[in-house]
Amino acid sequence: MSITVTCVAPVNIAVIKYWGKRDEDLILPINDSLSATLDTEHLCAKTTVRASPEFKENKIWLNGREESMDNPRLQNCLKEIMKRSQLSKDMESWKLHICSENNFPTAAGLASSAAGYACLAAALAKLYKVEGDISGIARAGSGSACRSVYGGFVRWYKGSDPTGIDSIAKPIAPASHWPDMRILVLVVNDSKKKVSSAIGMKRTLLTSEFLTYKAEKIIPKRIEQIQEAILKKDFETFAEHTMRDSNEMHAACLAAYPPCIYMNDTSHLIVELMHQYNSTSDRTKVAYSFDAGPNATLFLLEKDVAELLGILDHYLPPAVDNNLEYRKGISIEVTSP
Ligand code: PMV
Repeated sequence: MSITVTCVAPVNIAVIKYWGKRDEDLILPINDSLSATLDTEHLCAKTTVRASPEFKENKIWLNGREESMDNPRLQNCLKEIMKRSQLSKDMESWKLHICSENNFPTAAGLASSAAGYACLAAALAKLYKVEGDISGIARAGSGSACRSVYGGFVRWYKGSDPTGIDSIAKPIAPASHWPDMRILVLVVNDSKKKVSSAIGMKRTLLTSEFLTYKAEKIIPKRIEQIQEAILKKDFETFAEHTMRDSNEMHAACLAAYPPCIYMNDTSHLIVELMHQYNSTSDRTKVAYSFDAGPNATLFLLEKDVAELLGILDHYLPPAVDNNLEYRKGISIEVTSP
């Protein structure tokens, strides 16, 4: 006897970044953030959870390798689920086997934990018959995961309650609202990042005053403006806020002591190329954003994808020399799962 549930959850890319926690244990952020959830074809996690009275202990496999269940984030997720479980006490005592796979590199600044924990939260919620918003459960695993629970454009409200009850994600517009928005992922380097986002965030918050300034003085205004730009489909405004926010997150990281360096020479070349492309076009055609790694995500409209791919092929041909690790661009749609 057993119950099995399988779910798929995509990666989300933040245009207003979450970087810095006001509460490390509950994963409560210092600012609101906003992202677009990608389609499930290219960058997603698939998780199967199976509960059975025959299993002797809880076990987890990530990308085919058995990992320890002692991970505190995983335990937090399970704890949150059990609080809201609607299964009988008998079935709640059944042990779990969890199997999760990503179809893209893990921990390379491609928001793998976001997809992974959103997927785990969704699968566990289904298994334990948990109803209502599950973004808080995903957040207990990895902050940005709360935004992957919804499709389209999603805002994670930092909340003000010390328990974290109001620190949840809410969709602000479905993918169908802006159907010609495209996201191009340029995999510059898919090896594991040197400084994890958890360590990077903590160090930046403790040692870079600019991060607090950004969270308190810049983001509150910017997030309202970018949300309005999304609702009005104003690409120009959307693009400027996206690029500024990414630049400022990495500026804060660079101002940490010791500095957290995520972007590499190829990333900076992409930034320069995108500004040159925009300034020689009749309008802003592309926006870049970088998470905790060197890979670039580019936001653009469907009508400009072919031209931009041509520009990238010309100026940044894949793996043309050993210093350029850039490999490929995948055109991805924002999606509503
Ligand atoms: O959720 P985490 O701990 O993997 O942190 C994600 C941080 C960024 O990806 C850099 C920004 C974001 O908002 O997704």
